Amino acid sequence: MAVTLGISDICGPSEAGDERAVDTVEVHDLESIRYRDDGTAPPMPASGGGASKMRPMGAALLLLSMPLWAQAPPRAPFVATPPDVVSRMLMLADVGPQDVLYDLGCGDGRIVIAAAQIFGTRGVGVDIDPLRVEEAQANAKRAGVEHLVTFRVQDALETDVSDATVVTLYLVSALNVKLRPRLTAMLRPGARVVSHNFAIGDWEPDAVDVFISADGLSRTLYRWNIR
Ligand SMILES: C[S@@+](CC[C@H](N)C(=O)[O-])C[C@H]1O[C@@H](n2cnc3c(N)ncnc32)[C@H](O)[C@@H]1O
Repeated sequence: MAVTLGISDICGPSEAGDERAVDTVEVHDLESIRYRDDGTAPPMPASGGGASKMRPMGAALLLLSMPLWAQAPPRAPFVATPPDVVSRMLMLADVGPQDVLYDLGCGDGRIVIAAAQIFGTRGVGVDIDPLRVEEAQANAKRAGVEHLVTFRVQDALETDVSDATVVTLYLVSALNVKLRPRLTAMLRPGARVVSHNFAIGDWEPDAVDVFISADGLSRTLYRWNIR
């Protein structure tokens, strides 16, 4: 049964230049975006009304033409998971009030906040970008779930997830692969890992959910059970 989330009500608008410019490109292009060595994003050229109005093909060509300096280190840019996909991720993870959900690379906090609002789930969101964490904290306050959730600036590769029962990911493959040994070492039996669109190397998922989301894009959700 589908759960209807009012994420846009919960989270409000994101920075359009960030989300829409990228989100109009196929979601798999997340991996085409590379950051400079100092961690900042490469510039998005204004095209007419600005990056937020960039056409998908133009954006894809721009990404493909990025120079080598822009290709280190793997870091997922902020592309928000749409509300209907958040809902399916929570259902695939079988989230309930007894869970502790960690979103590694939490962006504006929408997954953690939705779980708290709908199920009363306690949650932790970490993001490497301080602006996202500020945004997530403001969104949690607006949603009235501050008492259930915590957001902090942290590298997902340094996050202690040992008290998590659910971990959600929407990162790039290279990061997922690096995370795997940490997840399997720290998570306890019964914990679940759910990833949006990106597998974790050759780790065989226990469940896969493929569907077309409300925005017309094909989505793949993966679930791994910790044994
Ligand atoms: C694709 S967005 C996903 C946001 C959110 N989880 C969602 O599904 O809407 C990826 C997020 O991960 C963050 N990120 C990228 N690399 C990270 C890392 N190594 N550690 C923590 N956060 C990271 C980015 O700043 C960005 O906000």
